[in-house]
Amino acid sequence: MENIDLLYIVSTVLLIIGLRKLSSPATARKGNILAAYGMALAIVVTILSPIEGDHGNYLLIIAAIVLGSVIGLIFSKKVEMTAMPELVSLFNGFGGACAVCISIIEVYKFNASTSIGIAATTYLALFVGGIAFTGSLVAYGKLTGKVKDWRGAFASYFNLIWLIVCVGLIVYQIIFPAQNEWLPLVVLAISLVYGLTFVLPIGGADMPVVISLLNAFTGIAAALAGMVYDNMVMLLGGILVGSSGTILTVLMCEAMNRSLFSVIIGGFGSTATSAVADEEGVVKEASLVDTAIMMRYAQNVMVIPGYGMAVAQAQKICKDLDKSLSERGVNVHYAIHPVAGRMPGHMNVLLAEADVPYNKLIDLDDANEMFKDSDVSLVVGANDVVNPAAMDDPSSPIYGMPVLEILHSKNVIVLKRSMNKGYSGIENPLFFHDKTKMLFGDAKSSLELLNTEIKGMD
Ligand code: TAP
Repeated sequence: MENIDLLYIVSTVLLIIGLRKLSSPATARKGNILAAYGMALAIVVTILSPIEGDHGNYLLIIAAIVLGSVIGLIFSKKVEMTAMPELVSLFNGFGGACAVCISIIEVYKFNASTSIGIAATTYLALFVGGIAFTGSLVAYGKLTGKVKDWRGAFASYFNLIWLIVCVGLIVYQIIFPAQNEWLPLVVLAISLVYGLTFVLPIGGADMPVVISLLNAFTGIAAALAGMVYDNMVMLLGGILVGSSGTILTVLMCEAMNRSLFSVIIGGFGSTATSAVADEEGVVKEASLVDTAIMMRYAQNVMVIPGYGMAVAQAQKICKDLDKSLSERGVNVHYAIHPVAGRMPGHMNVLLAEADVPYNKLIDLDDANEMFKDSDVSLVVGANDVVNPAAMDDPSSPIYGMPVLEILHSKNVIVLKRSMNKGYSGIENPLFFHDKTKMLFGDAKSSLELLNTEIKGMD
């Protein structure tokens, strides 16, 4: 075995261990660093690998690495925690663009001796990379609020047609392998348009699934490009990203009661309009003192964090309140919905940052079992993930998505600033329910005031 292969194996092992460690908040930081070392090693080994022909590219390669690293560093340093999903989407798009560039260069090198396998693989990398590129840019635009949903009536049919035409063209290339000047450009154009028509119609609450799918696409495109180059580490890296992204997508589809096919042809979660969209009812406001008393004398309190906790940066004060309550004999737990916030694991990361012990975080199914014993459910800036319309309103766009069933608890207190809607833009009947009281204000200030009140009690 050559040294290069050996170093590629070391790099792959580092990527695999890194990925494994990412599965727990306690080891995630280490995992990220290990994977970064693995990637750095792979890049260095690839650059230093002997290649036939032209050797004069080092200056260009170094310039590209410096430019990419500086841009990446500036973006990552400046980004707010709440804007992380946008950044991930943007970077994902660049990965897709890389696969497109590689494939375009390679297809124009095809000649009579090019095998069917290489031709098909390269075209697939071009197609999948193109979708990942424009799809990720649209996802970035939607997450930043710059791009609105496009709800064309025939969106799903368009997507199906693009898919069929593109697969047809690739099969044509395989059957008639002669060099076609126009074919790569047509496949590229279709994939770029498909990326747009695939993501534009996706409804707000379904964006996490799409982001995860686009991530998987970029991994698959990289793996295909790795096959074209016969580069083991690129192939394995792509397989790891592609397979973990696919597994996450399938798990999220299950968590949101969607079929994978409906995601691939796009347009899901975009058409239904909820019967509760204009719900009006009586909203009961909670007083600070009453809420503090209710929590102080509760036996079990369940905190339900959501995106608003991230916006308010209320995780540390939440932990302080937890401490004050625990010192007074109250059991405090946190119910974590898999898509609470704006990225997978968002709440886990925030609470880990505040040193909340991991065993206090309860996942969706277990939390739903525990609500019946909960005296107070304290919603801290969550909205869609506690919307009961997902369970009992078939006309709701989020119908079928598992939610935290907090109405099983004895009392519900919601901390938010106004009656504004959540990410999916739909009304939440929870806020009008008999059991619910609203404590309006910024979550951090409300929690600080609650904590001061509770600390003043015995
Ligand atoms: P959302 O439904 O987005 O609701 C967040 C709520 O927080 C808002 O209603 C807002 O109401 C409140 N809020 C904002 N700033 C606040 C502050 N400073 N203090 C107190 N409250 C504040 O959040 P969620 O329940 O976590 O649900 C997440 C949503 O995002 C889901 O629809 C999910 O599908 C989507 N999403 C998730 C991901 C991932 S992977 N997690 C990615 C993309 C999209 P006010 O404005 O009235 O305060």
